[in-house]
Order: sequence, then C-alpha cells, then structure tokens
Amino acid sequence: MPRFDKTRLPSRHVTEGPEKAPMRAMMLGTGLAPEDLDKPLIGIATTWSESSPCNMPLHDQAQFVKTGVREAGGTPFEFTSASVTDGIANGHRGMKASLVSRELVAESIELVVRGHCYDAIVGLAGCDKTLPGVMMAMVRLNVPSVFLYGGSLLPGHLDGRQVGVVDVFEGVGSYTGGKIGRDELQRLEVAACPTIGACPGQYTASTMAAVSEAMGIALPGSGFVPAVDAKRGAIAASCGRTVMDLIARNIRPRDIVTRKSLENAAAIVAASGGSTNSALHLPAIANEAGIKFDLADVVDVFRRTPYLADMKPTGRYMAIDLYRIGGVPVLIKALLDGGYLHGDCLTVTGKTLAENHADVVVPSGQDILRPAKNPFSPSGGVVGLKGSLAPEGAICKVAHLKRRALTGPARIFESEEDCLAAVLRRDYKAGEVLVIRYEGPRGGPGMREMLATTSAIYGQGMGEDVALVTDGRFSGGTRGLCVGHLGPEAAVGGPIALLKNGDMIAIDADAGTIDLLVPSAELEERRRTWQPRTTLHPTGALWRYAQTVGNAAGGAVVHPGATAEKVSYADS
Ligand code: FES
Repeated sequence: MPRFDKTRLPSRHVTEGPEKAPMRAMMLGTGLAPEDLDKPLIGIATTWSESSPCNMPLHDQAQFVKTGVREAGGTPFEFTSASVTDGIANGHRGMKASLVSRELVAESIELVVRGHCYDAIVGLAGCDKTLPGVMMAMVRLNVPSVFLYGGSLLPGHLDGRQVGVVDVFEGVGSYTGGKIGRDELQRLEVAACPTIGACPGQYTASTMAAVSEAMGIALPGSGFVPAVDAKRGAIAASCGRTVMDLIARNIRPRDIVTRKSLENAAAIVAASGGSTNSALHLPAIANEAGIKFDLADVVDVFRRTPYLADMKPTGRYMAIDLYRIGGVPVLIKALLDGGYLHGDCLTVTGKTLAENHADVVVPSGQDILRPAKNPFSPSGGVVGLKGSLAPEGAICKVAHLKRRALTGPARIFESEEDCLAAVLRRDYKAGEVLVIRYEGPRGGPGMREMLATTSAIYGQGMGEDVALVTDGRFSGGTRGLCVGHLGPEAAVGGPIALLKNGDMIAIDADAGTIDLLVPSAELEERRRTWQPRTTLHPTGALWRYAQTVGNAAGGAVVHPGATAEKVSYADS
C-alpha cells in the first residue's frame, strides 16, 4: 500500500483526473517532473525578506527543509509572506502596522495553501509577529504542520558586555538623559546586530520560539540554535522529513494544540520571564483551534508557574547562553521535573512532551537556569492585573522588578508620540503614572508597542520611579513597572478614556490590581460627556483591521475561529 493516499489529500483538487491537466501544466512549468505531482504537495511557508536581519535566514533554511521533504517522498513549494519587523517599526507610526501584520502573515499562508491545495505546511518565521502568524495559519488550516524558528542573531559585544537592539533603544534614553554622547550611541548602534537572525534576548520572537517547542508544534531543541549555526541545515531537513511522517500518521495541529498544550506554552513564558505579547498570541492561536484561552487563562498559568531562567531583558542571559546549556529542552525538563507541565501532550515527533525530554539532563554548575524547587520567584515573570481601571484585565512583566507597586497621579497622553516627546524632554516626575491611551487594537489601530518610550525612561534611570499604563502593549524588551493590554480600551469607552490629569491610580502587581481612585459619581458624569474619537485612518489596511479586531484579552483576533468553522480545509 502506498505511504500516502493522494485521493484523500487536499492536493487531489489540483493533481488528480484529466480535468486537472491545466493545473498540472502550471506546476510542471515550475520545473517539476510529472511524477512529482503524484506525491503530497507541501507548502514551505516562510516570512523571508531582506528588510530585517530577523527574517533573512529563512530562505537558506527553507532549502534544507525542501531537501528533507523530497527525501521523504513529498514535493515542496516554497513561498513567502510579507512581514513587518518591530525593531524597525517601533517608536513611530510604523508600529501601527506590526500587530496587523500578524494577521497578514496568517492570511497569506492560509490563502496560498487554500488556493494551491497544499497537503501540509512547514512554516519558518523569525520575528515577533511572524512566529504567531505562521502558527495561527497552521492551526487554522489544520493540515499536518511543523514550525521552525529561524534562530536568533549572535549578540554584539561592546566594552566587554553583550548587546542587542534593545540596548540601542535604551541607549537613546541614555543619550537624551545626558549619560552618553552621540559617539557612544553610534558605537552601540554599530555593535548591536553583528549577524542575521532575530533578537537574542527573551523578547517576543525568542519567547514564541520557546512556546513552539513547549506547545509541541516544533521539533525539540530546534528553537534556540543560533541563526548562523551550521546545525540549522540538519534541523531544517529534519522538519521536512517530520512533516511527511505527520501526513502518513494523520497527525494535525489541532491534535497538538489543546487546552493542556496551551497551558504548557504559557508556563514556559512564565518560567523564562518571557514577553507579555504571548498573552495576545496564545489566545489568538487558541482561537484557531476553537479553544477559549484568554488573558485570564494565560495569567492564571503565569501565577502558578515558577520563574526559572534568568533571561534578558530583565535577567542577565541571552538565548545563546541558554542554548549552550541545552536550549529550550532543559527549561522544559526543569518544568516537567517540578510537575509544572502536562507531559502527556502529543507533539510533532508523534511522541509526548515527556517522552521527547525523558533523557534530557538539567546541567549543574551554571546560573542561567534554576531547578523548579529553587526558583528566582515562585510565580512567573509576568502577572495579570484587574480592577476599576481594567475590568477586562491588563498585564505587567515583574521579573526582577524592584518596585512592584505604585500609587500616583496620572499624566495623560493621547498617543505614544506625545509621551515619547515628553519623556525625551524630561517633562515628567518620579512617582507619576504615565498613561498612553487610544493605542489599543481598535483605537491605534494596531495596539502599538511602547518600547521606544519605556527604553527612554529606563535609559534615563527612571525605570523604577514611574509607572506606565496603556491600552497598547509593550515589546518583549520592555523593562520597568509597565502595565499594558489594558481593557476595555479607550476607543470603545473603557475607564481609561475617562481619566484626567492628576487622577490617582493605584497599581499593585503583587496583589494583581489596578484601580482608579476617582469617585464613581464623578466617573459617571465624565462618561455622559465622553465622545468616541474620530479615526485618523479611515482607509486601507488599518481601517479594515479596526472594523473587525476584538479586544486584547481575547488575543486581538479578527475572525471567529474554529468554533464557527463549517467546512474543514483539510478534509474537504
Ligand atoms: Fe525581529 Fe526582534 S525585531 S526579532
């Protein structure tokens, strides 16, 4: 019996029967032989482009994936999706395009696979939004899929310390704060990104790479191998062979992405002090599987998971340092040993998470990763907040944060630019709560990250002296008492829209609260006169996004997800 039954695969719609001769003719025009069309057709979806170092390694790695697919009896088709890179988009109007691009990546892959009837996907991604976008497409289409992160760049070195692009963002704050000169800032700029690859700290890309292994959709140990390491070729080829095996065994993403594997994903974020953006991306991936797993569910896992890996931005180490002691598998093993993961979840190897990591040993004699019984803190590096200012919730990274509570007067800004300008001219005071509103998913639109602003505050040495609250979000590289994802957002009339300068705000990250200390009668009066803002983006992709995007707590998704699905792509 043949290993693959083409009559049941989606590609039958373009290869089987005489009426499919025109489609076959087009594919033969790409240089294929007729017998190649008798095999499963595999989409090799990358987010490769030359516009950033993050996505640049993906094309080379895709060639190895294709070799693996061919070796195992498939016919690969490589295609790319547009992408937006946060390191370039951050701190200006370009950032409105970033989260929107997650949907663009997912939709690009969805439409190419639907249109060309591919049977499976190997997805390669290398930057903050491209990782979740690729994962969302895999789960949405639910054809056998393997995810591969392109790997981080090698960190730069300057005056004996490791540096990356987040250090350059903070360098701008140091420069405007008078701590360093223009020459020093330029030395930092030149040193920060010495190779291609994604940001090397436990920022969003690296966090989602760890998620891909913990959730079971990537091969164990594939994530933290540096982008320029020669081992990447063999790993990529293995992804190609693995996806063919998944077709043969009919193992699909929704067999792997379950409530329990999503909890595993959230646990690895907490254990590594990972990016708050995961609290947007995990609910969005869950939506593709038809699972309710929102901000409250994510922070619930964060609360009960110990913080084990001392990773930047709040800790000391880069992805390459964790890689040198065993990579994500040792972190997974430490969590499994402590009973913090569901070991029985299925993965792309066809084995369970526990089986994949049975022989992994957490090394001693290192200070990057602690065992679960001796954590840096008993709960995760990221906490959820709720209260009268955030009835739908909010999120804050607290790993290594000294000041975890602050009650102070609000200083209101109606956009990130206004706040950044005030910070750069030092027009704020210790003890204040800087509020940036109308930056939510709908209001921005696009829920911008505030990395330039938070980095400038940190670079000015004020990171522990003020709090920043926003209905937008933060970069994985953000440090300080920064509360984001606050909902309901200002654009839909959430309490943040009613704030006035000087209103007292009480934040307590340990208690998980964020409250507005204004009498409710006064707030009701303000609500009577509040008017929604007119959008500055009444056309184009930003307008279309604002019409459909949901709230941050639900992952800022733009479609109903698998619960509303009537026709399965994979089975129709
Ligand atoms: Fe692309 Fe950091 S900006 S991974």
